[in-house]
Amino acid sequence: MTDQNTSSEKPWGGRFSEPTDAFVERFTASVGFDQRLYHHDITGSIAHATMLAKVGVLTGDERDQIVEGLKVVKAEIEAGEFQWSVSLEDVHMNVEKSLTDRIGITGKKLHTGRSRNDQVATDIRLYLRDEIDVIHEELVRLRKGLLDLAEREAETIMPGFTHLQTAQPVTFGHHLMAWYEMLARDTERLLDCRKRVNIMPLGAAALAGTTYPIDRAYTAELLGFDRPTENSLDSVSDRDFAIEFGSFAALLMTHLSRFSEELVLWTSAQFDFIDLPDRFCTGSSIMPQKKNPDVPELVRGKTGRVNGHLISLLTLMKGQPLAYNKDNQEDKEPLFDMVDTVKGCLKAYADMVPAIESKAENMRVAAKRGFSTATDLADYLVKKGVAFRDAHEIVGKAVAFGVAEERDLSDMTLDELSRFSDVIKNDVFDVLTLEGSVQARDHIGGTAPRQVREAVARARAAMEG
Ligand code: ARG
Repeated sequence: MTDQNTSSEKPWGGRFSEPTDAFVERFTASVGFDQRLYHHDITGSIAHATMLAKVGVLTGDERDQIVEGLKVVKAEIEAGEFQWSVSLEDVHMNVEKSLTDRIGITGKKLHTGRSRNDQVATDIRLYLRDEIDVIHEELVRLRKGLLDLAEREAETIMPGFTHLQTAQPVTFGHHLMAWYEMLARDTERLLDCRKRVNIMPLGAAALAGTTYPIDRAYTAELLGFDRPTENSLDSVSDRDFAIEFGSFAALLMTHLSRFSEELVLWTSAQFDFIDLPDRFCTGSSIMPQKKNPDVPELVRGKTGRVNGHLISLLTLMKGQPLAYNKDNQEDKEPLFDMVDTVKGCLKAYADMVPAIESKAENMRVAAKRGFSTATDLADYLVKKGVAFRDAHEIVGKAVAFGVAEERDLSDMTLDELSRFSDVIKNDVFDVLTLEGSVQARDHIGGTAPRQVREAVARARAAMEG
């Protein structure tokens, strides 16, 4: 990056009697990070010039020179040959100056009826819209992987937990479908956010609109926006669309972080419920036996920065009077980092989830160990006429006996069980088995294998429809 410090270089040079302080120039510049908007900046400028020619502010020849010039600038940037200059502050002025150097006076006409204030708001929306579409694709890929895995594991029985204590048996497929539901809601939030991102601020100019006879609907159409914004002051100042994206991102990361926490627990020797393939893990430089679940750990860790960026954006906005303030330059780094982080985490998960291998026998043993069918025994007693509170008491005593004897309820004899209640008969063993327990929860949203398969089928249909 070059560092020419001359006041005449600046578009506002005419008003100033001394060059910008060298430190202030670096302090106020955004080109170091906003250069990644070059593609959307040039796309926006081409549409703007095209519109200016349509309404007669530029001639057809001037438009063509500008469009061709911008394409050359873009090619130069993509070839890595562009000389970014800190003294030109941001991506917008760097591109415009390069255009003018190339095509002369006509380049200076591009900025007619426009300000960097509406230009930058347009650039970020174009950028975010594209990134939302990429993120959406990755979310769908992850969700499809989860559905396939849930279907494969519809019959697999594991302990379901509350308070991280064994509660009731559930199917692994049902557990996975809980993650699916969260990600389906995240997708809805993302697509809803896209609606408000895809509105065009260009034409608001600095804050009040412009005196040129611009055709905003035409520019919006050229850029694929749904419509132009309604109010010029609001257009250049608010970043609520980025905050909305941040809310989506923070919730998605929170879900992925909880998912990660379970994967980390389940791969431990203590749980040993699943195996993650080696390609998603790393070893230890000192302990030869270690295989660490780095991918889920990192995803869990990265949640912190995304949550932090959401707070940055909210705080950035809260004290700003209308309309544009330089504070808004600070929106980019948090937004870019959220986009990069979410994309990386989703890619890792979409690649990893189909490769999760369950250890069904270990899950089964764990489900049996914690008296997970105790509620089923209470429900059995209620169905035989015992009041629920009494049934709870009876089963509590049976569990205490099992704890002392180190035996599950299903491993007791009929003789032993009937000591706690004489309504207990041989059919009790139908409900005390893990299979009986999960199969009995056979309603929409329940854990029965049949319900898991139906939930998967409904989700597939919804995704296609
Ligand atoms: N670099 C600025 C930003 O990111 C562009 C808009 C600057 N506008 C201004 N009047 N200084 O927000």
